[in-house]
Amino acid sequence: MLVEGKNICFSYDFGGSSFALQDVDISIAKGEFVAILGCNGSGKSTLVKHFNALLQLQKGELRVAQIDVRNEQEIWLLRRLCGMVFQNPDNQFVSSVVEEDIAFGLENYEVPRDEIPERVQSALSLVEMSGYEKRAPNTLSGGQKQRVALAGVLALDPEIIIFDEATAMLDPGGRQEVVKIMQKLHRAGKTIIAITHYVEETVAADKIILMHRGRVLACGSPHTILTNLELMKEAEMIPPLPVRLYYDLREAGIYLNHCPLTKEELVAAICQLRSKT
Ligand SMILES: Nc1ncnc2c1ncn2[C@@H]1O[C@H](COP(=O)(O)OP(=O)(O)OP(=O)(O)O)[C@@H](O)[C@H]1O
Ligand SMILES: [Mg+2]
Repeated sequence: MLVEGKNICFSYDFGGSSFALQDVDISIAKGEFVAILGCNGSGKSTLVKHFNALLQLQKGELRVAQIDVRNEQEIWLLRRLCGMVFQNPDNQFVSSVVEEDIAFGLENYEVPRDEIPERVQSALSLVEMSGYEKRAPNTLSGGQKQRVALAGVLALDPEIIIFDEATAMLDPGGRQEVVKIMQKLHRAGKTIIAITHYVEETVAADKIILMHRGRVLACGSPHTILTNLELMKEAEMIPPLPVRLYYDLREAGIYLNHCPLTKEELVAAICQLRSKT
């Protein structure tokens, strides 16, 4: 397993009585696309910040890419292997020129100077932002900014890329661009961990980890999690529209042959129904 955690507990007021994480077990395989879903304050960010030691493990065990996150000697390697893109695209830049911003990260990790230009180019090309090298990040759209922030992470060739609500502040177009790049990176073999409020963004994941009040409520395929109304209610999440429609139709005496997760699956199920009648 690339990420393997057991009994992780965490409290922001260490020693206090309120827990942001309680007895969390987690395992993520290399190459998996994992969505972490949960309402506000359920502990999603707190959990992933342990993966690259942005938060110190207080209790439990956690190994990421075979590295014990408690091992301070390995902290820079861990951060290089496990890159993160955050919610606010404006808070992720240190330079006012795109290429310098990406190069800065590489210099920090002591990448040899003569390798830097090529790494910057190939990272920008991966996120489809070639040609924007000389631009100031603040002149870009939200989606473009997130892609540049992602290029900064990709330039370090991480094993795992964590998107912590990286699409939350984007308009639908920008969100789509970032989701498309996530899927491309997944196809290229990267392990993707996507935290999101948008249930629609989780339907294509290999698995969903559903969190509530600092605990993992359930872990399973999108179908298992998103079509379980009781579970979703317990997690205070609203299931995707096709799932809700499926159950509404059932109540009205109309039975689709399976519960769809996407608009396309819903249309196909309704067409099948019509062809039977
Ligand atoms: N820096 C902090 N100091 C104190 N408490 C915090 C801090 N960050 C988070 N918490 C608390 O820890 C709990 C988990 O928060 P966390 O940010 O991990 O949730 P989340 O699922 O990422 O929420 P959101 O969807 O709003 O980002 C919440 O009760 C929150 O109030
Ligand atoms: Mg969060």
